[in-house]
Amino acid sequence: MLPRLNSSRPFDDSVKEEIRSAINIADVVGRHVALKPAGQNLKGLCPFHKEKTPSFTVSPAKGIFYCFGCHKGGDVFNFLMELEGLTFPEALSLLADEAGIKLRPHTRESGYVPSAEEESAPSSLSKDDLFKINELALDFFYRQTRNFPKAIEYFLSRKLLKEIIREFRLGYAPPGWSSFLDHARKNGVADSLVAQAGLAIVKQETGRMYDRFRDRIIFPIFDSAKRPVGFAGRSLTADEMPKYLNSPETPLYQKNKILYGFHVTQQFVREKKSVIIVEGYMDFLALYQAGIKNVIATSGTAFTDTHARTLRRFTDTIFLVFDGDSAGIEAARRAIFVLAPYNFNIRVLTIPDDEDPDDFVKARGPQAFTELLEKSSKDYMEFILDRIAKEFNVTTPSGKIAVIEALAPLVKGFSESVVREKFLKLIVEKLSLSPDIVYNKIASGEYKHGISSSNVDIGPASSYFGSIEGNFVRLLLANPSLIPEARQFILPETFSDKFSSELYSTILRSYDENANLDTLLGHADDPETKRLISYAALNKSFQEDVNEEIVHIMRRLQEKFIRFKMKANQELMQKEPGKRPSLLAKNKELSLQLKALAGQ
Ligand code: UTP
Ligand code: MN
Repeated sequence: MLPRLNSSRPFDDSVKEEIRSAINIADVVGRHVALKPAGQNLKGLCPFHKEKTPSFTVSPAKGIFYCFGCHKGGDVFNFLMELEGLTFPEALSLLADEAGIKLRPHTRESGYVPSAEEESAPSSLSKDDLFKINELALDFFYRQTRNFPKAIEYFLSRKLLKEIIREFRLGYAPPGWSSFLDHARKNGVADSLVAQAGLAIVKQETGRMYDRFRDRIIFPIFDSAKRPVGFAGRSLTADEMPKYLNSPETPLYQKNKILYGFHVTQQFVREKKSVIIVEGYMDFLALYQAGIKNVIATSGTAFTDTHARTLRRFTDTIFLVFDGDSAGIEAARRAIFVLAPYNFNIRVLTIPDDEDPDDFVKARGPQAFTELLEKSSKDYMEFILDRIAKEFNVTTPSGKIAVIEALAPLVKGFSESVVREKFLKLIVEKLSLSPDIVYNKIASGEYKHGISSSNVDIGPASSYFGSIEGNFVRLLLANPSLIPEARQFILPETFSDKFSSELYSTILRSYDENANLDTLLGHADDPETKRLISYAALNKSFQEDVNEEIVHIMRRLQEKFIRFKMKANQELMQKEPGKRPSLLAKNKELSLQLKALAGQ
């Protein structure tokens, strides 16, 4: 196995577009799925999940597919990548062949544009090559368990079953300084490349290489396409430090994006409509093995907005299950501050008696764990209030002020006024203060008039982009090619807040002038809008499935809009009872629309 260096380069959109328009998505999908006409679309049984009635839909006109059952969707490239486990370049070259379009690797005209990194560092590895080296390592570590009984003994001592070891490809890195380096060399991979993949370390003084992972149990880390992006190595004994040694960040392994285990458990999260977040690899594996499969682990890294956004596509309910020690409680608190602005329902469970989820589920079984989760978890608002109130003396005015100040960032981060109001009420109760004092202190004059006004408080850019409206706008800014599709479903009037509505109108106007949105900043006159546009432009690097995400977000925007209209009608009914029958009929119609959206 020999990585072909720099064989694959990023492609700009023109080749992709050329291929996309030359290929009929129905032909490609039709080879795998029996499709039947349904209006302007085609329908069939979804190849990505088990179903009896077709919810898998293909739109030849738009060149996209979407499954209303499992919510997978995208273009013809995504379809092949997902179904056949291809990388993007692989799917591209396959479809280029089919379309009779030649890919010419070395000229710009063909649409190949080397990235800035590649140009400045010609020797650096492409992602494809990094994947190949990681796959070599994955295989190697996995096979070593057979050669080293102590690895098997360790798995036994942690009560890990064979199926789980196989499913998560747990492995063992042998002792010695160059076991993997030697293996890589035999496979034609040079030491320096192993180092670039984070699997070897260069000794400063001598420049010599040695294996990063030595005599450690290996937990491979996968991306959502089930490709290995990095590794964590656990020492076998308590005195060997550090306990867990992790791969460094590489172009593949970006810690702010990866959630341990999610490549396997995302389907269970979707099914259960909730996700259990634990801290450790072992906690994850123990719960999964016990049959509690809607779980992920943060693996010792802080929770980020990217994690939150990823999860938001799968569920709106989170159980944070952290150790009961002070580090665990602090980690829960930090996670809440990141997650709450995304309007998750969050419940927090801290495991009592110095145990972690792994200990607990092994000692008492999955049922006891599920019961504990149901009975002893706390709503996050309550949890965080208790926690912060404990830090200060809430019987004194200055203690109360300190609590309010500590909570202000969280309150301001909420993009939903209903959520914000609920939390403010709890603070008022907890501190026995008048609502006015708390509101004014938190607003510091910013939104004194009506916390619950229907306008979204923009707040920091990251929290605005966490709202449904903001996320929609952000996706369009980062991917203008989504705009033609989006504008068919979402009108500027759909937004309940004026800011998003105006920003969206501006984006549409600018798009009509220039499809790259080059003129957008010129159209934006207030500094707040400019700030947000720039932020979105600079944050383009999210690895997300934009096609899937935009469909999801549009549906939620529509839901929100319908709910908003229903509420307005209800208010009107109270004011003008004469209009009641017609308003009731309208709301009935609207609730049918809601149902239809939910059923999709
Ligand atoms: P814990 O110390 O709670 O470990 O760290 P654990 O998961 O219970 O592991 P076992 O049961 O002792 O094997 C929680 C997580 O923090 C990260 C790891 O991801 C670990 O799973 N961590 C911990 C590190 O990255 N490095 C360390 O040195 C320790
Ligand atoms: Mn543990």
